[in-house]
Formats: sequence, C-alpha cells, structure tokens
Amino acid sequence: MNDLLEMPALSPQQTTDLLQLAQTIKQRPTAWSTYLQGKSIALLFEKPSLRTRASFAAGIHRLGGHSIYLDAQNLIGEREPATDVGANLALWHDAIVARVYSQHTLSDLATASDKPVVNALSDTCHPCQALADLLTLQEQLGDLSQVHLTYIGDGNNVCQALMAGAARTGMHMQVVTPEGYAPDAVLTAAAQQQAEQTGGSITVLHDLTKLQSTDAIYTDTWFSMGQSRDNNAVMHDFAPYQVNSDLMKRLGAKYFMHCLPAYRGREVTAEVIDSPQSLVLKQAENRLHAQNAILVKLFEGAHA
Ligand code: CP
Ligand code: NVA
Repeated sequence: MNDLLEMPALSPQQTTDLLQLAQTIKQRPTAWSTYLQGKSIALLFEKPSLRTRASFAAGIHRLGGHSIYLDAQNLIGEREPATDVGANLALWHDAIVARVYSQHTLSDLATASDKPVVNALSDTCHPCQALADLLTLQEQLGDLSQVHLTYIGDGNNVCQALMAGAARTGMHMQVVTPEGYAPDAVLTAAAQQQAEQTGGSITVLHDLTKLQSTDAIYTDTWFSMGQSRDNNAVMHDFAPYQVNSDLMKRLGAKYFMHCLPAYRGREVTAEVIDSPQSLVLKQAENRLHAQNAILVKLFEGAHA
C-alpha cells in the first residue's frame, strides 16, 4: 500500500487485513508506540474537521510520531498548485493526510509527493470513516458478510466510501436516497460488481416503502461541506428520509450510525441519535484505531 486515496483502491483482502490490524492495535496500543518514531506527518485540511484532525493527531502521537496541522483553505489553488504543495511537503514530512474538495487534488498531491498520501475526506470518498464504520459493525455484529446495513439520505462521499467498503467485505447494503441524490453511477456499478465477487449485495433505491429489514441504519448530513445547494429544495426533498424511531422500528434496526457532525431534527431525531442504539461515539472512537492501522500498513516497508 503506497497511498490511500479512495476506498475502491483497497482489495477485499487489504480491507479485511486493515480491520484485523485495527482491532489488534486497539487491544494492544503500546505494541506500536515507537512505530513512527522520528517521523513527521502533515495534516493538510481544506475543510473544517473535529474527528479526523483530532484523531489523526492523537493517533500519530500514540505511534510515536509527530504531526503538524496546515489550514489549506488558502494554500492550494490560486496561491500554489497541489503538485507544488505535495512536492514541498514531501521534502520535510514522511506522509501527507489531506482533506480536500476535489479527488483530483489528492491525486495531484500523490503524484508530486514520493511519500504516502491519505484521503482524510474528499467530495468523493471518506475511506478512513468507512474503515472505522466497518470496524464498529464488526465489533457489534461479528461476521460482516452476515450484516445488513441501510444507508438513508444523501448519496455523498460517506455513502460512496461505505458502499465500496460493504462490497469488499461481503455485506448486504441498501442505499435509499431522494431522486436526484443517488451515489455516483460509476462508483455504484463498481461496488455492485465487487459485491458479486464477495457474496455481498448493494442496492440503490428511492422508494422508502421498498426498504427491507436491517441490522443498522446509517445517515449523514443533507448539507456536505462545500456543496452549493438550494437549502429549501434540500429540506423539502430529504424530509421523508429522516431517521426517526418509527423508521428504526419498521426496519427492525438494532443500531443507528452517523459519521458526525449530525444535525438533530434534520437527518435524524435527537431521540434516535441520543439513544442506547446509537453507535456514533463508538464509530468516532474507532477512527483513531482504523487510521493507525492505515499508517502502520503504509510504513510497513520502512520496518521490513
Ligand atoms: N466524521 C468526520 O470526518 O468528522 P470531522 O469532519 O469532524 O472530521
Ligand atoms: N458528508 C459530510 C461528511 C462530514 C464528515 C461532508 O462531506 O461534509
């Protein structure tokens, strides 16, 4: 593994190995406490972040490494191309963790840098989130190939990463979005093809009455960072797709999931997200362990 730019870049075996490693690191964190000794990692963020930024900083520290945070809102683009940013950062740092708008910015950073680049969320994909979510589901429900997950809401970066993750682990995932907000058709087809090989399934639909029973319901904000959408239209289109206790009951869902930040009263009611069924803090906690597994894999060569 040289970079982690998108979830589909991982094979099913790599995905399973990362989950296994994350679980091992979570159980025995001190075993890796000098793994990144002497290494420095740049956290380059074009968008705000609480969980990703704080969990990477803490996780890198736990691995014995050092991180610096760079607010990239005005760094990439007009001031300097992403390729120049990547080439320069690679002179002083051993890896770049980047949260960006365009997926192209990540590939430009990776092309110009001879050090690993990790996607900390782009408009297309959120692989660190998906790995933490798979880890959380595995902890709660065991064998992922037996898990039925429902994603409801916007077919965005989080949804697309989860579809790819579900496809790689043989999960059964139904995605339901309002018309016009489905995940990318090419990414969906690729996930469906991958799922056929792992014995999983990915279904995308719009009709809420067609939903089948599920182990967990996952949703995300209706307003992702950087999107310019008509607020009134979004509120109108998404209103029927709110996760509330009626939907949880109707689908027999044991768990509720959300990547956070969440907007109570919009995509989910407070009653559901603040209930014992909610896994949101377990997901957030697992960000650190999943990301440390990614970092350990990326630097495996240096330890061979
Ligand atoms: N879930 C997630 O990525 O949170 P942040 O935007 O706070 O990093
Ligand atoms: N879909 C959201 C996820 C935030 C972690 C966004 O892109 O803003």
